[in-house]
Parts: sequence; structure tokens; C-alpha cells
Amino acid sequence: MEPTKERLKVKGLFWTGKLPVPPRIIVNAASLIAWIRGNARDSEAMKRQVFSGYDATFSDHVLEYDRRGEAHYSRIAERLIEELDCEGKRVADVGCGTGILTKVILEKKPSRMACIDGSSLMLEECRAKCNFGSFSDTEITFHETDAENLPFPDQSFDIVSSSMVLGMIPDQSAALREMTRILRPGGVIGIATHGPSHYAEAIEAGLRAMTKRHFLSHRFEFWPRREEEMARLFCEARLEKVAVGRITWTEEFESGRELFDFYAATSSLWWYHRLPSKKRKLETEKTRASFQRGRVTSITSDVVFSFGTKKDKAD
Ligand SMILES: C[S@@+](CC[C@H](N)C(=O)[O-])C[C@H]1O[C@@H](n2cnc3c(N)ncnc32)[C@H](O)[C@@H]1O
Repeated sequence: MEPTKERLKVKGLFWTGKLPVPPRIIVNAASLIAWIRGNARDSEAMKRQVFSGYDATFSDHVLEYDRRGEAHYSRIAERLIEELDCEGKRVADVGCGTGILTKVILEKKPSRMACIDGSSLMLEECRAKCNFGSFSDTEITFHETDAENLPFPDQSFDIVSSSMVLGMIPDQSAALREMTRILRPGGVIGIATHGPSHYAEAIEAGLRAMTKRHFLSHRFEFWPRREEEMARLFCEARLEKVAVGRITWTEEFESGRELFDFYAATSSLWWYHRLPSKKRKLETEKTRASFQRGRVTSITSDVVFSFGTKKDKAD
């Protein structure tokens, strides 16, 4: 591997989001140990862990993804779609999950829709949800695959969308390059991704409650991502007319338990792959109880929206 690439990946190890100093030290130390041991460099394993999380391998909470998360993700989808004119267009939704954004796109009547996700469970939910209207099997297709390696020829789509996925992908530059490759010249990419304060309260409370020894060589997430980092990624992918903005809001819950259930359902608790399987339920209950005791009842949603257009001609 070239030294610059290696340096960049080490830089991306450290937490860039909102977090007080003590949990930040834990997270960064764990990521560094993970780097030294090689866990943080095995991106194929890291992706498998995320997919397994969304396949409900580590917690049943994700089975309630829509019930708990629909309002949250719909709000993001509606904002994203305001900037994307999908009518009559060929659209690919990367990391479609259960299809919350996909459904909003389908209502705009694209000519073709490709739904892509690495989790078979999420993709099945998406298939069930998007089975409406008069779309034929060639107009809407489902692909269980990785965003870093998209199974489409160059220039197959007019629009590529992705909502709250990029930050879970180990090599975000590779994913963006792939999204750009499958886009026709003049086509548009719209991405919503986790901002620096996204879920900050739950992340902090979760870190405080967790049984730390299990996570000591775990690389904690790949997000958050700031506006300037998104702009840099888009420019690196040679996209033009790049526009980046951020929206932050707070969601309130009746109790700490309710907030934990939302957090667990939408995140899938995929880092619980570090726990021995018989400890996972116990850890979930312990963390849930600590959210309740700590009255963690409000959570920040912090979303960065980025748009870019593929150059008409390569220069
Ligand atoms: C938080 S959910 C967002 C789902 C959906 N876009 C929405 O707005 O509800 C993240 C989704 O990204 C998928 N994902 C994560 N990493 C991925 C990757 N490398 N390739 C494809 N899908 C990925 C997960 O399986 C999961 O379904």
C-alpha cells in the first residue's frame, strides 16, 4: 500500500465528532489498538460485520427499523429528494435499507430504479415495501452487494442517491468513485450522511455503559463526516457543481428506554459482533437500563447533505 494512502487511513481512524474527552480517549485508544492488530484494516471483515448487524445477527432491535425509525429517515429522504429530479430518470439508491428513501423516489416515477444493500434482511424489506405501482422486474431491481463494488456498467444511471450509509463504509472514496462511475455525464449524486453531532447523546451514553474490555480492539465507526470532508470527497471523485449543507434537529422520547430502542433499531448495534453471543442480550439490557437511569431522552440528528454533478466530458 502506498504511504499516503496508509497515512490517510490512519487519520480516518480517529473520532472527529462531538464527544467529551474521557469517552473520546477510549474510542481513539480502541481504534488505535484495532489498527495495530489489523482489525481496523480488514475492510472486508468490517463490512461483513455491518451487514450482519443489519441482518439482525447481534440484536433483534433492527427488526423494528421502520416502526422506530421511519419518521427520522423519511425526514432525511424528503430533504434529499427536494434536490433530485427523479421523474423519468434511471435512479440507483445505494444502501437502500428497508426502502424508506427508495419509496419516496418511486413516488416521483423514475424510469428505472436499482436498490442496493449489503444486508439481505434490509433488501427483503425494501422489496416488500417497493412492490407497488406498475413497475416491471426490469424497471425495479434489487442487488445484495457492497457499495464499494457496484455491479453495473459505466454510465448506467442519471441519479445516484444514498441516505445515511456512507459513514458505515470503510473506504468512502472508493464508494464515491463507484457511484460516479455508474453515473452518466451530467448525472447527479445526492448523499445524506452522518454529521459530527449525529446521535451524540446516545453514543456517549452507550460508551459509558458498555463493557469496555470487549471493545478494546474495535474500530469505532467511520463517521462522523464534516461538510468540508464531504466537499473534498466529491471533488476527489471529480464531481462538479458541488453543494454541501447541514441540518441539525433534536428528537425527544418519552423515556431513556424508548430512545435506546430507537438507537438500537436504526444502528443495528453492529459493533456487538465483539461480544460473545451469550453476552449480547445482557449487554443490551444493561445499556438500555442505563439510558433509562440517566434520563437520556433527547437525541441530536445531524445530517450533512451533499450534491454533485458528473462532468459532461472527461478533461
Ligand atoms: C442506517 S441504514 C440506512 C438505510 C436507508 N438508506 C434509509 O434511509 O433508511 C444503513 C444501510 O446501509 C447498508 N450498508 C452499510 N454499509 C454498506 C455497504 N458497504 N454497501 C452496501 N450497503 C451498506 C446497511 O446494510 C443498511 O441497510
